[in-house]
Amino acid sequence: MVILQAKNIHYTYQDGTHALRGANMKIEQGEFLAILGPNGSGKTTLLKHFNGLIKIQEGEVFLDGKSLRNCPSREIVQRVGIVFQDPNDQLFAQTVREDVAFGPMNLGLAKEEIEQRVEDALALVNMSNYGGKSVGYLSYGQKKRVCIAGVLAMKPEVLLLDEPTSGLDPAGVTHLMRLLQKLNAECGITIIMATNSIDVVPVYMSRMAVMYEGKVVHEGTPENVFSKIEELEEVYLELPQIAQLMRLLRDKDKIPMEKLPLTIGEARNFLIRKLNENHAIKLTSSDVLKE
Ligand SMILES: Nc1ncnc2c1ncn2[C@@H]1O[C@H](COP(=O)(O)OP(=O)(O)OP(=O)(O)O)[C@@H](O)[C@H]1O
Ligand SMILES: [Mg+2]
Repeated sequence: MVILQAKNIHYTYQDGTHALRGANMKIEQGEFLAILGPNGSGKTTLLKHFNGLIKIQEGEVFLDGKSLRNCPSREIVQRVGIVFQDPNDQLFAQTVREDVAFGPMNLGLAKEEIEQRVEDALALVNMSNYGGKSVGYLSYGQKKRVCIAGVLAMKPEVLLLDEPTSGLDPAGVTHLMRLLQKLNAECGITIIMATNSIDVVPVYMSRMAVMYEGKVVHEGTPENVFSKIEELEEVYLELPQIAQLMRLLRDKDKIPMEKLPLTIGEARNFLIRKLNENHAIKLTSSDVLKE
């Protein structure tokens, strides 16, 4: 079932910048989708269309088949949550708990329900011990997690995230991606994430879309999209680092590969198989190859 759809969206900012030029995108319920593309290609502008933060000028956005133009903003905000790139643009209350409670309070829920939602959301992002802490004293990564908790407390069907990994340390990136993976797989939340962290895409995401100059120019599984190397170069998109190494081994060093490994796991399996074939090493453990 298609949960969100952008149809031929054009958008021009007040200063005349034509940010979207006929963007089309379909998101199936339960998907974990990455939106990639160079700076200024329209990722943020499109994300803002998906939860009504930007008033549609031309084209249509459908939520569950219903045009957002006819959807009360209260319903949109409840069903589609957005996490901004900079947590400082999102957090405003004094304490963590107050901030996370803000959305559910606006829904007019009972006090007990609000408290329960806040505790559940903080637990999901591993911030249960920080409820009473002043928002201003949190680290950057902690602020990002509190922003996500604030949106989760609304129990959204769709979670939009704008560059959620930017500014996080490497362990923080892994932690956040695992959290998103869990929210997607276990809580059934559809996730759409604008990102420049190409390396994480084939590891965690089932589908990706590439934007360029206000349009979606490629769409599909990471395997599919990253196989069109020349076309991606035209829109300044690079391969994940490990795939760049494997591509060099394939094209420059003439090591034959049926398909280009995109993740460390895939590359490792390929290399172990190759080394085994050439009797360079004696690895027989099938466990290693399955990983
Ligand atoms: N408020 C605004 N007023 C005028 N122009 C804007 C505004 N916000 C964005 N733009 C312009 O719209 C275009 C698309 O911007 P957008 O922020 O959607 O790109 P992006 O793909 O998210 O880029 P990035 O990777 O840098 O986050 C850019 O040319 C940008 O300069
Ligand atoms: Mg952006």
